[in-house]
Amino acid sequence: MSRDSQQRVAIVTGGARGIGAAVAHRLAADGLAVAVLDRDGDGAEAVASSIIGSGGRSMAVTADITSSEEIEGAIESVCSGLGDPTVLVNNAGVTRDNLLFRMTREDWDTVIAVHLTGAYLMTAAVQRFMVAAGFGRIVNLSSVAALGNRGQTNYSAAKAGLIGMAKTLAIELGKFGVTANAIAPGFISTEMTAATATRLGMSLEELAAQYAGEIPVGRAGVPDDIANVVSFFVDERSGFVSGQVIYVAGGPKA
Ligand code: NAI
Repeated sequence: MSRDSQQRVAIVTGGARGIGAAVAHRLAADGLAVAVLDRDGDGAEAVASSIIGSGGRSMAVTADITSSEEIEGAIESVCSGLGDPTVLVNNAGVTRDNLLFRMTREDWDTVIAVHLTGAYLMTAAVQRFMVAAGFGRIVNLSSVAALGNRGQTNYSAAKAGLIGMAKTLAIELGKFGVTANAIAPGFISTEMTAATATRLGMSLEELAAQYAGEIPVGRAGVPDDIANVVSFFVDERSGFVSGQVIYVAGGPKA
């Protein structure tokens, strides 16, 4: 068999930047073909080009994961461009932070739509390839916010939901060789946390330093800290690890 016919195909949602971009690079370095899916097409293109430049197989796919029509088109282009996807990293996310009394219905709906409905739609669209292959890996990006976080009623509810979703998928799809797990990062320096810093009137470095003071390992996280754990869950040898949550937060959580 040629290398390509054995090569697993992964889709990383929100792969244009931050944690998703690091995950895309890591899975490509692990030998997978990687579809970098994002609503930011230029960003996704830059990540895919960089993977190809390093000798990997990749493609950019522009899609909004809250739209089942766009997802359908995206999956078709992944199948024809790289092959049937059997690895899915549900990573795309947004924040609309506010204390509950100020949180609008739109803040709530947007966050639930991207994290929860987006992950549901993507997983529902991709699981048939996993079942057909008798192999699959689903990794949901949750957050320590799933344990509760002031100003994030919408986000923490969505992130707790992603854990429940992973556990249920683990039960339903286990007999088809599919594992489903969740990663709950603590503070990771990305554009998402940079936006939080701006909202609080400080730089990302200042906010990271503030968090670092309370993190047992004494530093804020970086996207590669998360990519490393995705790599572990996706590994062919991790087939007996399913329905789990790993907190990647520089110290104990839960
Ligand atoms: P980011 O904001 O840097 O990147 C998110 C990516 O998702 C962007 O490229 C954006 O275009 C894409 N995206 C957003 N909505 C989309 C949609 N509807 N369809 C397609 N793509 C969409 O975020 P970051 O920090 O890299 O976070 C990645 C994941 O990790 C998110 O789910 C986030 O909630 C989670 N997380 C991040 C933490 C952090 O400290 N940065 C901590 C815990 C969890």
